[in-house]
Amino acid sequence: MSIPKTQYFEAQPAVPSRPRTVRLRIGELDLTLQTDRGVFGSKGVDLGTRVLLQEAPPPPLKGEVLDLGCGYGPIAIVLAKLAPGARIWAVDVNERALELTRANAEAAGAANITVCTPDTVPDEARFDAIYSNPPVRVGKGPLHSLLLEWLPRLNPGCAAYLVVQRNLGSDSLAKWLAEQGFAVRRLKSKKGYRILEVKAAP
Ligand SMILES: C[S@@+](CC[C@H](N)C(=O)[O-])C[C@H]1O[C@@H](n2cnc3c(N)ncnc32)[C@H](O)[C@@H]1O
Repeated sequence: MSIPKTQYFEAQPAVPSRPRTVRLRIGELDLTLQTDRGVFGSKGVDLGTRVLLQEAPPPPLKGEVLDLGCGYGPIAIVLAKLAPGARIWAVDVNERALELTRANAEAAGAANITVCTPDTVPDEARFDAIYSNPPVRVGKGPLHSLLLEWLPRLNPGCAAYLVVQRNLGSDSLAKWLAEQGFAVRRLKSKKGYRILEVKAAP
């Protein structure tokens, strides 16, 4: 039987489920998370995700924080554990990923996560920080639209932290963001990944 081709950003992955447990150790945190086929990071915690969690500044201790494209939830759950007084919005289009994030948040005792599809985030929601390993594989046009939809929802003076592989166009993305009027800084370059800090231009 041939296995249907699937992309990690499909709403309902066609590939049959085969759950797997992965371990994520960051600082004092030692998390055991479930992932699955049809979800980004199905074989283990992505290296870019690890670089982002190790190198980006910690989240604000209160307020609203967005994990844009949460997958099975590694970023959202670390943010929630580091900032139990903040509300973490974990947003994705992939329903299998959202179910995993819900289950992983519950298992990790992270009650301060709201897991939802992008269209169910209230229009008036604004964020004190955004963290994202963005879905570069959707293509340049859809990626640009996604960033233009969410980055302007940062509160004044607040920043987004994006991790993007150098080989997948981190530098051209930084240039494009600057052309759109954002203040962009390369915070770190590590293991082939860049961490970009993106703020509204002053
Ligand atoms: C590179 S993966 C990162 C997943 C997870 N944060 C991690 O670090 O393992 C990007 C995620 O963005 C999601 N995505 C794709 N298009 C999206 C959209 N329009 N809105 C929100 N999430 C989207 C994908 O389904 C995928 O889970």
